[in-house]
Amino acid sequence: MGLEEIKEKIELLRKNLTEHNYKYYVLAEPSISDYEFDKLLEDLQALEKEYPQFEDPDSPSKKVGGEVNKNFETFTHEYPMLSLGNTYNQEELQEFDKRIIKQLGHNDYQYVCELKFDGLSISIHYENGRMLRAVTRGDGVKGDVVTDNVRTIKALRTQLGGSFPEKIEVRGEIFMHRPAFDRMNMEREEAGEALYANPRNVASGTLKLQDSAEVAKRPLDIYLYQLIEKNETIKTHFDSLSKMQTWGLRTSEHARLCGNIDDVFKFIQYWEEERKKLSYDIDGVVIKINDYHQREELGFTAKSPRWAIAYKFKTEAACTKLLSIDYQVGRTGAITPVANLEPVFLLGTTVKRASLHNANEIERLDVRVGDYVYVEKGGEIIPKITGVELSKRAENTIVHPYITECPECHTPIVRKDGEAQHYCPNEVFCPPQVIGKIQHFIHRKALDINGLGDETVELLYHNGLLKNIGDLYALKYEDLIQLDRMADKSVKNLIEGIEASKSIPYQRVLFGLGIRYVGETVAKKLAAKFKTIESLMAATYEELMLVDEIGERIAVSINEFFAEEKNRTLIQRLKEAGLQLENMEVEKEKLSDIFSGKNIVISGVFSRFSRDEIKDLVESHGGKNAGSISAKTSYVVAGENMGPAKLEKARQLNIPILDEEEFLRMIGE
Ligand code: IVH
Repeated sequence: MGLEEIKEKIELLRKNLTEHNYKYYVLAEPSISDYEFDKLLEDLQALEKEYPQFEDPDSPSKKVGGEVNKNFETFTHEYPMLSLGNTYNQEELQEFDKRIIKQLGHNDYQYVCELKFDGLSISIHYENGRMLRAVTRGDGVKGDVVTDNVRTIKALRTQLGGSFPEKIEVRGEIFMHRPAFDRMNMEREEAGEALYANPRNVASGTLKLQDSAEVAKRPLDIYLYQLIEKNETIKTHFDSLSKMQTWGLRTSEHARLCGNIDDVFKFIQYWEEERKKLSYDIDGVVIKINDYHQREELGFTAKSPRWAIAYKFKTEAACTKLLSIDYQVGRTGAITPVANLEPVFLLGTTVKRASLHNANEIERLDVRVGDYVYVEKGGEIIPKITGVELSKRAENTIVHPYITECPECHTPIVRKDGEAQHYCPNEVFCPPQVIGKIQHFIHRKALDINGLGDETVELLYHNGLLKNIGDLYALKYEDLIQLDRMADKSVKNLIEGIEASKSIPYQRVLFGLGIRYVGETVAKKLAAKFKTIESLMAATYEELMLVDEIGERIAVSINEFFAEEKNRTLIQRLKEAGLQLENMEVEKEKLSDIFSGKNIVISGVFSRFSRDEIKDLVESHGGKNAGSISAKTSYVVAGENMGPAKLEKARQLNIPILDEEEFLRMIGE
């Protein structure tokens, strides 16, 4: 390879790794396994070492994680939150042990072996025994302040017991137990919402919700595994774990001291099997030097400590033959390739189908019909294909040609810039899209139309009686009674059901419209903010962005939806049919005009009221809530933990900053 090619290869690896980091840490939607990620990173590190002339401070090899979510205040970690080096087999671990002995110059040390919890790491600060703030790892250097959300974790003490140092920071992992995860997914399945891939994604998504009440409904749990304490009265890691316990902080009961690497292997072997009995996922074991002095001697590399390493379990895989590839078209037109497999037994169930995600994935794996492929379940509900057994490839296989047309309606499929998924753009006539949209609309959590089920929707569609949601309200007894399977009683039930749906509240109609990314919760928020469908249709991108939990992606999607003529016509038809398209809740009581004409920014955590309650108070007193500080801001109401950057901006612009008490006094509370 020439130097130019090497440079290109390095750049490509950096680009891909950055993308995967983003998907993993920011979107919580990884598209490759940790193992594959680590291999790519290793490739990059090897090339960077060999060709230092292509050094780049922004290379993902120098970074520990993802990016910071813009909706939260950020906080710079006093000590960066590093990651761990990974090993996948005994030899690599043996190497690690040899390096330790060499560096220390003796083998008088102990390891602490712990479970590697598959969740997300968190740093929690306590002062005088009270929880001050909780910060996500973010990019390792600075993270998001998610104190309110972390406060909802039942297992976490926000007030320490015993005799604790004045100031401490503890770090640990937040995760969700599998049964709780399964329960949540069952509810989502009922609601026709997309299922979560694994508990880690839910835990990560949950921590980033803006409404901590919503967070509290989702049972998160925590284990703490690191103590940072300035006075350093504690000398070993194992003692720090016991100490944390005496303060009421939850640590794992499975941590063990090991005198040598053979004991470490035994610990790993034990958990390789035993982990199946745990109620939560672990993806390996973490091995740490116990003595703090020795840790200091060993030091750090740019991204991880030299005194600790992770041993990752291999996920269980089965090898089977790929019979064919089908393509599913969802209600939004998204196309997902699905592999049909020769049935194979894997971790308790027979697997016949596996997701291939998208065209890139088929290309990346170069998977061909007739190949023997590896299937893994690793945390995901739908098994996925992770590789091809090339030694078993038959001679006559061909590179799999991806479809160019929708398998259902034969419209040429499209792919938007930056998206991996292909879409069928034929929203209006493509059968699974049309049927799927109507099925979504009549769903229990949307219009809940009694007497109309998914199969009846298909029947009506195939008989030309239903072409879109609006047609539901034009259905007539005379037409329906002609159909097979439709007797007098069922037709009457259906008509009654449709009639009754006209009194379903606005927010559920909004959810039923099936606007991309507008789920039940978002629909509720929108209905509360935009009291009529007209005001929502007229809302600008900026106005939408001001609503809690509405980000760029949702705002764009809403704007796009209402920009389309056919959707505006649909809304008109629904209106004429008599559906609820405005919020009937009584207007909030007007308490005063003290904030009339004022733009107010609320920031931080409050002690007497929640942030939403404070916002309601602003509105009841005539004010307007704004999302970010600008020259137009009249006041900032600052709770605890307001971000330093925001504070600084308010000061620069000379905007009066009120604390909670001052604010309440102003409104006479
Ligand atoms: S110690 C310097 N202990 O694994 C890093 N980490 O790849 C100190 N993790 O970011 C981390 N269980 O999210 C440590 N018992 C454990 C862990 C653990 C899970 C996660 C953590 C960390 C990642 C490192």
